[in-house]
Amino acid sequence: MKKLMEKDIIILGIETSCDETSAAIVKNGRLILSNVVSSQIDIHKRFGGVVPEVASRNHTLAINGVFEQALRDAEITQNDITAIAVTYGAGLSGALLVGISFAKALAYSLNIPLIKVNHIRGHIAANYLSVNGETDLIEPKYICLVVSGGHTAILEILSYTQHKLLGTTIDDACGEAFDKIARVLDIPYPGGPLVDKLSKEGKAVIEFPKMLKNSSGFDFSYSGLKTAVINYVHNAKQKNEEVSVADICASFTAAAIDPLIEKGINACKKFGYNNLCIAGGVSANSYLRENIVKAGEKNGIKVFIPPLSLCTDNAAMIAAEGYYNYINNKNIAGLTLNAVPNLKL
Ligand code: KG4
Ligand code: ZN
Repeated sequence: MKKLMEKDIIILGIETSCDETSAAIVKNGRLILSNVVSSQIDIHKRFGGVVPEVASRNHTLAINGVFEQALRDAEITQNDITAIAVTYGAGLSGALLVGISFAKALAYSLNIPLIKVNHIRGHIAANYLSVNGETDLIEPKYICLVVSGGHTAILEILSYTQHKLLGTTIDDACGEAFDKIARVLDIPYPGGPLVDKLSKEGKAVIEFPKMLKNSSGFDFSYSGLKTAVINYVHNAKQKNEEVSVADICASFTAAAIDPLIEKGINACKKFGYNNLCIAGGVSANSYLRENIVKAGEKNGIKVFIPPLSLCTDNAAMIAAEGYYNYINNKNIAGLTLNAVPNLKL
């Protein structure tokens, strides 16, 4: 059994907002004792995307085993848990409800607090977690780029529990655009990681529009870029021309990611920050990771990127966000907690 100190705050995180069933144990908001992720990718692959009802059913099947594995990996018992943090939005309604119901029942039976977590704030909190004992982690205040399947936004992080939205996408999310162009190119689900892989074999030689790149504001747009890629592929098909999928992926990636990097750096300069971080599933993208660090070096800005294992959905990030809410007595939920599928930042 792991030795815990009386004052240690042990948070159980539960995450079921989309197609990953995850439970994690985090000590004092920083140290991951366990982070179990059961992915449904193989189940949804044959449908070309996540089927909400199928996702809910599979969360129900997996949640108990995932929780027990998280306790075993952390070498603790359920009586060591101080509080439970659960994602209540944004996400798929039925999928969220599985995690919420499980968390409520456990909080009630153990008589411990339940904390409701905004999934996107969880992605940001991934940057506070230490995986290999790192101590050089980002601390507020700083600028954060949130780039996921459902969100693309730039935020000023004012404290561990407060933020200000500086800009957001005016149409599609960046990750959604990755997934959509993958479909057009017959790249199997999940599109983002495979587009990333193929990009490395291609060259960014096709001129796709870099939406709102040079505008002075901090909003983003992806629907025009998505349409440009779709039109390019359809035109080539109609003319029976061969296309290079790798070049399309590389060109799309540059057009999608360059504006993010530019606006992240601009926000730091405009609001006087020296620290910038990225969060959300697309922060796993190798082009973004490499080039945002380079841009930071060029501009004297320190860039923090979460380890790959914490970029996509996992419960450790939910536990980290839950910890800061718990110690600040924020977002403590009752047993009436419900899912909020369209929860905003
Ligand atoms: O953060 P996340 O799990 O979803 C939401 O919370 O919305 O992110 C999933 C998204 C998907 O759109 C996926 O295609 C994208 O992140 N993604 C990537 C990569 N890995 C995941 N996009 C580009 N490159 C990657 N390596
Ligand atoms: Zn996510």
